[in-house]
Amino acid sequence: MLVLVKSDYEELSRTGAQIIAELVRKKPNSVLGFATGSTPLGLYRELIRLHRNEGLDFSKVTTFNLDEYVSLPPEHDQSYHYFMRENLFKHINVDRRFVYLPMGMAQDVAAHCDWYEEQIEKCGGIDLQILGIGANGHIAFNEPGSSLGSRTRIKTLTGTTREANARFFKKSEEVPKYAITMGVGTIMDARSLLLVASGEGKAGAMQATIEGPITAMVPATIVQMHRRATIILDREAASKLTGIYTD
Ligand code: PGA
Repeated sequence: MLVLVKSDYEELSRTGAQIIAELVRKKPNSVLGFATGSTPLGLYRELIRLHRNEGLDFSKVTTFNLDEYVSLPPEHDQSYHYFMRENLFKHINVDRRFVYLPMGMAQDVAAHCDWYEEQIEKCGGIDLQILGIGANGHIAFNEPGSSLGSRTRIKTLTGTTREANARFFKKSEEVPKYAITMGVGTIMDARSLLLVASGEGKAGAMQATIEGPITAMVPATIVQMHRRATIILDREAASKLTGIYTD
């Protein structure tokens, strides 16, 4: 694992975007795995800037998102379809035919999850998967206790995750109880990983992820087993690390 500790969120976002931009320039038909949440927003803003000012071309890129809430239609302003459209896709020249997100409204969820896995495989696998992390150590919606070999499936959200996400909904009861999420195994199949974490609320989870033992109770710890994983943190998220890391 390459662990980079950056001075602040802006620097973290720029560094993350540079890694993605470099890949897209080298391989224009890259398969990128995107994540939602507040942490990757700065990185997405920087990708938009690179597209506008430096002509970074996404027209041949294929994208797969990590997860989506069950029962939210793509038009719902808290759906991850909406999030990606508003915060990234409508600002860059990604081809909508090459954009994949799990469908929260799928009738047959299990069949849809199998289909999603098949699409990833058909596209040749994910070149680079972006990840945020929950304060409880989840990656995507793989909550503590998730099988480290899991594939795309439906998961029940924990109380802490629903509380953390309640800030985006009018009423806390509106936060969906279930999500479709890539599994930990699906994520680990990506050829490279880029995990970003910002703020002291993530410091405990990051200490466990980087320096703790691998355990399904902190699903992000499996990243230690990946051969090409980069973790970018700001100083606050790195504040509980005991080792010395590069900047
Ligand atoms: P955040 O969410 O980036 O909004 O903190 C990350 C996550 O829960 O995976």
